[in-house]
Amino acid sequence: MPETLEVKNIGLRGVKVADTRISDVNGEKGILIYRGFDVVELARSSTFGEVSFLLLNDRLPTRQELEGFRKELVLERAVPGVVLEFMRMMPTSAHPMDILQAVVPMLGSFDLQLHEETKEANHKKALRLIAKMATTVAAWDRIRKGLEPIHPHPELSHAANFLYMLTGSPPQSETAREFDICLILHAEHSFNASTFAAREVASTHAHMYASVAAALGALSGELHGGANSEVMKMLLEVKEVDQANPWVAKRLGKGGKVMGMGHAVYRTEDPRATILRGICESLADRWGDSRWCELTKAIEYATKEEFKRLKGGEIHANVDFYSASVYHMMGIPRDLFTPVFAVSRISGWAAHIIEEKFAEAQPKPELYRPDSDYVGTYCGLEACEYVPVERRTP
Ligand SMILES: CC(C)(COP(=O)(O)OP(=O)(O)OC[C@H]1O[C@@H](n2cnc3c(N)ncnc32)[C@H](O)[C@@H]1OP(=O)(O)O)[C@@H](O)C(=O)NCCC(=O)NCCS
Repeated sequence: MPETLEVKNIGLRGVKVADTRISDVNGEKGILIYRGFDVVELARSSTFGEVSFLLLNDRLPTRQELEGFRKELVLERAVPGVVLEFMRMMPTSAHPMDILQAVVPMLGSFDLQLHEETKEANHKKALRLIAKMATTVAAWDRIRKGLEPIHPHPELSHAANFLYMLTGSPPQSETAREFDICLILHAEHSFNASTFAAREVASTHAHMYASVAAALGALSGELHGGANSEVMKMLLEVKEVDQANPWVAKRLGKGGKVMGMGHAVYRTEDPRATILRGICESLADRWGDSRWCELTKAIEYATKEEFKRLKGGEIHANVDFYSASVYHMMGIPRDLFTPVFAVSRISGWAAHIIEEKFAEAQPKPELYRPDSDYVGTYCGLEACEYVPVERRTP
């Protein structure tokens, strides 16, 4: 083995693996665009339904198309009874991300167009997944609590219906709108780990449900989508604003990370974090309790200061930092934060899977097959001598 190894596992940072027409992250300037539109503008003026249409179709819908898309989503919300039965048989301690990752291929088995690999059929599969993943997450939360799942409400928006299926009562209109904005903000983010996983699986010609199941596995990790739930864990642990500084100093001093801070691409504040901070404040105003926002801000400030002191650089909040207190105030259980991320990100994943399958941004579809250097045991071209087990010495 060579004495010094060139480090190749740099997490593919800066390596461009494909072209995409779906979104772009300008990490230096803190700008995120979906299909050319600034996410800040979409959060201000659009809805999750419209953004999903945009991501999937590369253009904004007409009023008629948007209404058609909305109606189709409503019609596809129910999940098969067998899937609910499966969930009833699962241990109530099962993590909602694991349940979701198990349910998605089951939903595929009920999709009559599962193996139909036309663009049109994949658009239908995308729509079904957008509709049914929300229902699945809400149903699992009810089932594990010994409650009956709530039937989707055809009159409610995607965002309002999700909160309704979770809690049993329709949310205030302000809360529904704020949750809708959260869904818009989480819908897409170029070649992050889960999207890359989805595209990599799609490049093998696996179907959409298999690709989404892979993405769900990638999203579950704490360095990716799992960070929002870890942020809430931290808030519950730190508890008081005056504990923020010592807690952060101890954490960073031991080489630990403050979840929800830092980003692989942004070198300034994540624009989504800015919007979520605002939502946190308005929810706190309506709640009449600013505890969670204030605590989040205190930890953010302490992390920036301590990071500068220790590493001499800047660190900023990412999308997961404020979404934790926002979701908590909306009454969403902590371990559903990452599944809620998935309920939104499915739109982006599906758009990427379609782009990958139909080579919408490149001349032809291509199987991902990276290379590696072998640095293990090597006995020359003859290979190592195989010694039968009975002759092996310890
Ligand atoms: C997202 C993340 C994995 C990006 O990591 P990255 O690409 O290595 O980021 P950088 O290259 O900018 O890191 C530079 C330095 O800051 C440190 N750093 C990055 N994020 C940090 C955090 N949240 N807390 C403490 N230190 C952090 C890194 O360890 C690295 O230190 P080093 O140079 O001594 O090794 C990282 O910021 C992180 O783990 N954040 C917390 C998890 C999280 O919120 N994930 C959701 C992302 S949307």
